[in-house]
Amino acid sequence: MMTRMPRRDELFRMPADAAQAESAETTSLAQVRDKARNCRACPLWKNATQTVFGEGPKNAKLIFVGEQPGDAEDVAGRPFVGPAGRVFDRALAEAGIERNDIYVTNAVKHFKFEERGKRRLHKRPDSREIEICRWWLTRELDLIGPHLVVALGATAARSLSGRPMPIQRSRGELVPFGANGGRMLVTVHPSYLLRLREEEDRAREFERFVEDLRIVAAA
Ligand code: URA
Repeated sequence: MMTRMPRRDELFRMPADAAQAESAETTSLAQVRDKARNCRACPLWKNATQTVFGEGPKNAKLIFVGEQPGDAEDVAGRPFVGPAGRVFDRALAEAGIERNDIYVTNAVKHFKFEERGKRRLHKRPDSREIEICRWWLTRELDLIGPHLVVALGATAARSLSGRPMPIQRSRGELVPFGANGGRMLVTVHPSYLLRLREEEDRAREFERFVEDLRIVAAA
């Protein structure tokens, strides 16, 4: 039997309901985080352990946006705590940015994967999943009101700008973002560094990543 694809309005149902409820009482980040726990707006919640919402100070000046939680984040319920998170933490430290001072989140809040034996292999979220989950990212941005937003990789850049963005062409540049004088910088995703096979390439690209973060720290 063919499975019927959900209509767009059905996919958006949860955020629309949430938006109505929000007008009255959902105005804090904690409340939005709480609502996101039950998000069913796209099918990714079905296989994921939990929603992985952003974390960090609610008045952070700086927000980092990744792609989606990985295997470790899905289990822990926190962003960037697995292998990519460790690269991220090392680069932050080298650039002089305190992780406790920043808000860290993802464009997509559920882990998308395919099972290969006992392993859960990361699958890239598609444009529809990114678009649907953008509702939550927008709430985070609105409520925190950062001065600077950093897109870690193509998915984050797409979600933040609303269009596909070539990373290598736009990386390391501070560009205007949002209506309140904010700025955005696009750089690579830390897992890109993990995928490089040669030690020499990894060291060079890590340094370039740190250079991008130094621009952020200086701004
Ligand atoms: N990759 C991401 O994009 N986000 C995480 O939280 C972990 C890995």
